[in-house]
Amino acid sequence: MITVVGSFNMDLFIEAPRFPAPGEAILGRNFRRAPGGKGANQAYAVARMGVPAAMIGAVGQDAFGDEMVANLLEVGIGTRGVVRRDTVASGTAVVILDATGQNQIVVANGANDTLTAAEVLAQRDSFVRSQAVIVQLETPMEAVEATLRLARECRVISVLNPAPYAPVTDALLHLCDWIIPNENETAKLTGVEVHDSASAASAAVVLKLRSACPRVAVTLGANGVWLDTPEFTGHVPGFKVQAVDTVGAGDTFIGAFVARLVRGVPVREAARFACAAAAMAVTRRGAQASIPTANEVEEWLRQNGAAA
Ligand code: RIB
Repeated sequence: MITVVGSFNMDLFIEAPRFPAPGEAILGRNFRRAPGGKGANQAYAVARMGVPAAMIGAVGQDAFGDEMVANLLEVGIGTRGVVRRDTVASGTAVVILDATGQNQIVVANGANDTLTAAEVLAQRDSFVRSQAVIVQLETPMEAVEATLRLARECRVISVLNPAPYAPVTDALLHLCDWIIPNENETAKLTGVEVHDSASAASAAVVLKLRSACPRVAVTLGANGVWLDTPEFTGHVPGFKVQAVDTVGAGDTFIGAFVARLVRGVPVREAARFACAAAAMAVTRRGAQASIPTANEVEEWLRQNGAAA
């Protein structure tokens, strides 16, 4: 089992031919909404990979909250750790997709901002039953810290996805067994610009020194991931696909990757599988709605694996 501590957002999408410049209004189309939020997306990805998942987070006592919790329940995710607030709205994200499927996102954190350390600590039994715990930075730092401390106390593998980037202390990073940032987050955490696997390798070394964390994975979007671990250090290439919607691709990678790791899959193989899951996700619309099942990924790899 994997416990995910993190955010819920209702994603409000508009497709546009390009991103507007500051002060400019342009016409888009195809407004739609779908459950998202980095935490909920990652829990959803874990469940789609066939590994039991539990979610800890906060939503409003509103229609978006109902819908987002129901979406997790539909794939069997435990939601006992999800608290409802009647004084604040559920998290919402406004997502603009350009013609190439790239996105710009602004999040109104809403109820996500109210998750407390005490509410995380109250879910100790979930941690004890888990092989891994995943947390991001879309909930308050006190909840993130409580997650990492409790994971260490319970001897559960802790995974930090430092997204969206926020300044973090070295002490917090010292509590992580895995750190999985993208290029931007890595650059901000280390001061090393990341634009390819060579620069990712240098940045990973700096991040490991700063954090004393033994395992770092720098995700590189369509270019795959750089792994720096005692078991394997090197580049795992991504897959070239026609993207229509990149929202949630990173979350798909993380959920699939950790799900494979807890099933005992070697790190390099787990990363290749997770890159395939993320590649499939960008060819579909929505965050949670785009995440494939483990069987779909296996079949896709049989057909497309040789191309990588
Ligand atoms: O990582 C993608 C997610 O980031 C979206 O679903 C959006 O809600 C934001 O949290």
